[in-house]
Amino acid sequence: MEVVIVPDAKAGGELIAEAMAALVRRKPDALLGVATGSTPLPVYEALAAKVRAGEVDASRARVCQLDEYVGLPAGHPESYRAVVLREVVEPLGLSEASFMGPDGSAEDIVAACEAYDRALAAAGGVDLQLLGIGTDGHIGFNEPCSSLASRTRIKTLTEQTRIDNARFFDDDMDQVPHHVITQGIGTILDARHLVLLATGEGKAEAVAQTVEGPLSALVPASALQLHRHATVVVDEAAASKLKLADYFRHTYANKPAWQGL
Ligand code: GLP
Repeated sequence: MEVVIVPDAKAGGELIAEAMAALVRRKPDALLGVATGSTPLPVYEALAAKVRAGEVDASRARVCQLDEYVGLPAGHPESYRAVVLREVVEPLGLSEASFMGPDGSAEDIVAACEAYDRALAAAGGVDLQLLGIGTDGHIGFNEPCSSLASRTRIKTLTEQTRIDNARFFDDDMDQVPHHVITQGIGTILDARHLVLLATGEGKAEAVAQTVEGPLSALVPASALQLHRHATVVVDEAAASKLKLADYFRHTYANKPAWQGL
């Protein structure tokens, strides 16, 4: 696992946007897996700026969603479909046709989950999956004790995750869905390159357990330890509980040739 410590969220966003741009230059129709939440926003801003500046032609790139709430009315502004369209697809100048996500309003949720896994495989698989991390170590919406081999499926959110996400629903817990569809951990591990971004002190414990703790379903992000090419990008605050922080700084900082970055 590559652990890259950057000074702040903006630098992390710039670094990952450049990795995505490099991928799209190599493979113009790359399938980019994107995450929601506040953390990845600097990535999307930096990538859109590169597109506007003509540094990369992303017109053939494809985008896919990591997870989705179940049961929000169609077009709800906080559905992850709406968020990804607003924050990623539109700023990159892509059409809705280049975008895939699970159907959180399907009548048959089980079938919708299976269909999404099949659609990802049929699209050739995810080239780069961007991930955030929950304060409890979840990735996507794979809460603690998710099977490390899980595929896309319906999950129930923990109370902590609902509290963390209430800010997107006017701080009204009654509006926060209880159920979600999420790519499984096994599905996420199928991506060719995993890039997890974490910023802020609130993520420091989860980052330390992900990187230095044992592989454990209790910390779903620790499954990155199983992946052949996983990169963890953290700001100084999120790195503050890493015992090996100096080693990571020495090994990965200021070297332009991080694998795949
Ligand atoms: C939600 C999303 C995750 C995201 C997490 C953290 O749970 N499903 O993909 O990583 O929030 O969000 P934030 O980056 O806002 O802390």
